[in-house]
Amino acid sequence: MSFPVHRPRRLRQSPAVRRLARETHLVPSQLVLPLFVREGITEPADISSMPGVRQHTLDSLRAAVTDAAAAGVGGVMLFGVPAERDAIGSGADDPRGILNVATAAVAEEVGDALVVQTDLCLDEFTDHGHCGVLDARGRVDNDETLVRYAAMGLAQARAGSTMLGLSGMMDGQIGYVRDALDAEGFIDTILLAYSAKYAGAFYGPFREAVDSQLTGDRRTYQLDAGNGREGVREALLDVEEGADIVMVKPALPYLDVLAEVRASVDVPVWAYQVSGEYAMVEAAAAKGWIDRRGAAMESLLGIRRAGADAILTYWAVEAAGWLREDL
Ligand code: PBG
Repeated sequence: MSFPVHRPRRLRQSPAVRRLARETHLVPSQLVLPLFVREGITEPADISSMPGVRQHTLDSLRAAVTDAAAAGVGGVMLFGVPAERDAIGSGADDPRGILNVATAAVAEEVGDALVVQTDLCLDEFTDHGHCGVLDARGRVDNDETLVRYAAMGLAQARAGSTMLGLSGMMDGQIGYVRDALDAEGFIDTILLAYSAKYAGAFYGPFREAVDSQLTGDRRTYQLDAGNGREGVREALLDVEEGADIVMVKPALPYLDVLAEVRASVDVPVWAYQVSGEYAMVEAAAAKGWIDRRGAAMESLLGIRRAGADAILTYWAVEAAGWLREDL
């Protein structure tokens, strides 16, 4: 019989010791708040599958971004919900399109206090809901889509977006959009590559949030859930094409991919805690089955621990408040 020589519990004995011994920290500037702005509504609209998240009017969007800046979050990621859609997503690169109008309004107002970012993808703007344009047989046409992304990227840069979030999962999209921006002098516009974006069930509530027209799925362009090495490969390709930041998405079901990507690239690595991850915790908390704040913060810390330098999360503003309370 011998008592232990090694006593890891020593470093857990009090809040003060635990605070000093903690390996991973989360601060508000590492959080990015996704926001939805909808054309043609006069009051903000609730999203039933995402309690606490709303489709904004231009005015309520301005207020939400101002609040986010005051809370110290690092940035906002804007998504547009247009009133009308067509086959090629014309609203995406129209300077009068809702996302570009909203970007200009927000960039002017708070562009110095946080980083204004925009989703660069056609799915919100197409009448078929796919992330690209379709060919004659109804398949998503990679290279024709790149041409649309370049136009969309230029429109967003002109509207004042600091960072373009390329979420469409077309091959070569980072290099193509980079070239188009550089040719027009937008050499400082930052490219956030949604490099390892997995197809699956966790984007469900987002479809409600953007009133998605999609029938079917995105499995011909987003990654298969079983493929970790392929996620790393996608990140490496994006870095080669000029990505400034790479991202893994969703976050919690793909922490292994996040850790692998972190070990494989030398640019910042971000993660997107997506709508379904948010909705799971909110729904369980609403039933009294899980501690909402505890589960939210533990998941965010876990995503940081796995390797994310920053996290897109619908809890960004609230989490920033909790982090201040915990100081
Ligand atoms: C594409 C895009 C999507 C999300 C972010 N950008 C939808 C999709 O790929 O189906 C999902 C984000 C979320 O679920 O929170 N515009």
